[in-house]
Amino acid sequence: MTEGRSDLAAARRSNVPGLPGRVKIVEVGPRDGLQAEKAQVSTDVKVELIDRLSVAGFTNIEAASFVSPKWVPQMADGADVMARIQRRAGTFYSALTPNMKGLEAALAARLDEVVIFGAASEAFSQRNINCSIAESLARFTPVAKAAKEAGLRLRGSISCSFGCPYQGDVAFDAVVDVVTRMRDLGCDEIDIADTIGVGTANRVLEVAETVSHVFPLERIAGHFHDTYGQALANIYAGLQAGIAIFHSSVAGLGGCPYAKGATGNVATEDVLYLLHGLGIETGVDLNAVVAAGDFISRAIGKPNGARAGRALLANAA
Ligand code: HMG
Ligand code: MG
Repeated sequence: MTEGRSDLAAARRSNVPGLPGRVKIVEVGPRDGLQAEKAQVSTDVKVELIDRLSVAGFTNIEAASFVSPKWVPQMADGADVMARIQRRAGTFYSALTPNMKGLEAALAARLDEVVIFGAASEAFSQRNINCSIAESLARFTPVAKAAKEAGLRLRGSISCSFGCPYQGDVAFDAVVDVVTRMRDLGCDEIDIADTIGVGTANRVLEVAETVSHVFPLERIAGHFHDTYGQALANIYAGLQAGIAIFHSSVAGLGGCPYAKGATGNVATEDVLYLLHGLGIETGVDLNAVVAAGDFISRAIGKPNGARAGRALLANAA
């Protein structure tokens, strides 16, 4: 399969001034992409997906979720998944850990990075993790401490940084407040998440600027769901603002079980096509991701949500 026409090759040679030369993609498909699937995806399929993504060259893969299996049954086999994947040297494997029970499971499963996940919206916090923002931060405190003591990387994720499915608008101050608290808990990286994909490029620039006063932008990640088709534009705006870490999901899989109507994250294949076209290095093999996207779409019987993935598969056929 070939990625290119001559115009794309020309674009690759030119770095657009002001944009980063290298970007880290956090592949969240195995977690964010699969968590809302109604039919149980087998552990074998999850393991094969993660193995394919590891071979593709991602340095960070969100592989599991150690949350209550009553709340998110699809993620109940996280320990088995982690025990069976082929770990690639140089790749960090992450999992969601909402409380100490989750952290203990993550430690037993030898995760490299744990993710405390809160929200900038009270209503979403209640629906997603059954507590207020303040209560969540109190719960995260021992999780963060134990993660650091165990030498793990700690990431914080802030849902509804661009809007909430239950309360609508979310104030900048609310986002900055949670970023500040997660910074104080020792987060190495913080994700500003557009859970329902309502953000637009100007809002990304504004949020990035506001947040940069309390946390270094080079450790901020953009986590954009593509519900309104804005995610690639939002990534471009993020690049212009100085963000160089983005989350995406192979084949555009996913949605949040606690955000009605939200679609998946932006498709990794589309993001790679954009970044490589801009001459930005990712270290990820687009063709290998396209093949992984084809594999998982067939395995779960869903249309492949990656535009670039579909186009490259059609070219190769
Ligand atoms: P709760 O019911 O308030 O907690 O849930 P609890 O402490 O009362 O525990 C209830 C039961 O769950 C107990 O079991 C616990 O042992 C068990 P029981 O005694 O009834 O048999 N339990 C657990 N089991 C396994 N692992 C655990 C765990 N904790 C409790 N870690 C809780 C609170 C946070 C646990 C629950 O609300 C929950 O699991 N929520 C998960 C929600 C979730 O995973 N949402 C999707 C991921 S977030 C997302 O997608 C957004 C993101 O992508 C960014 C964006 O796009 O916005 C990150
Ligand atoms: Mg998400």
